[in-house]
Amino acid sequence: MNPEKTLVLIKPDGVQRGLIGEIIARFERKGLKLVGLKLLKLPKDRADQLYAPHQGKFFYDYLVEFMTSTPIVAIALAGQNAIELVRLVNGATRPAESQPGSIRGDFSIDITHNVVHASDSPENAERELNILFDPSELVNYSRIDEAILYSPEL
Ligand code: CMP
Repeated sequence: MNPEKTLVLIKPDGVQRGLIGEIIARFERKGLKLVGLKLLKLPKDRADQLYAPHQGKFFYDYLVEFMTSTPIVAIALAGQNAIELVRLVNGATRPAESQPGSIRGDFSIDITHNVVHASDSPENAERELNILFDPSELVNYSRIDEAILYSPEL
């Protein structure tokens, strides 16, 4: 068991296209547990913090402009190997590489308007969760299906 927490953002295009429920359902169905959830308009200073690793790249300014343009949904998810699993459910960043069956593979055709964002490492998950959520907004609880989702520790 490798319990992890990670951050997912439903980007402005996902919210505007009415995909919030569809996207959250895919994570729930996988067995990932929602531990934080909010709709917000991302302030520019927080977009800059979130995308600091991309500062200076040619797409940075438009990425920040897009992410702050209309509301997003921030989701904190917990589960075994959550960081890697969420990235699989989301699909590859490049449109030609995102497999059908993944969120991006099913719903996006563009590298920036690509519906979702997710943390790509344990370090970034902690950093990004702190940008979007106050620790008091993350809820610690058990889901009743955990008893059957996971095998016992051997
Ligand atoms: P995301 O998962 O939000 O993380 C960084 C974002 O930068 C990425 O999704 C893309 O939307 C965007 N991005 C990455 N590479 C490029 C690129 N080559 N051109 C435009 N946007 C990019």
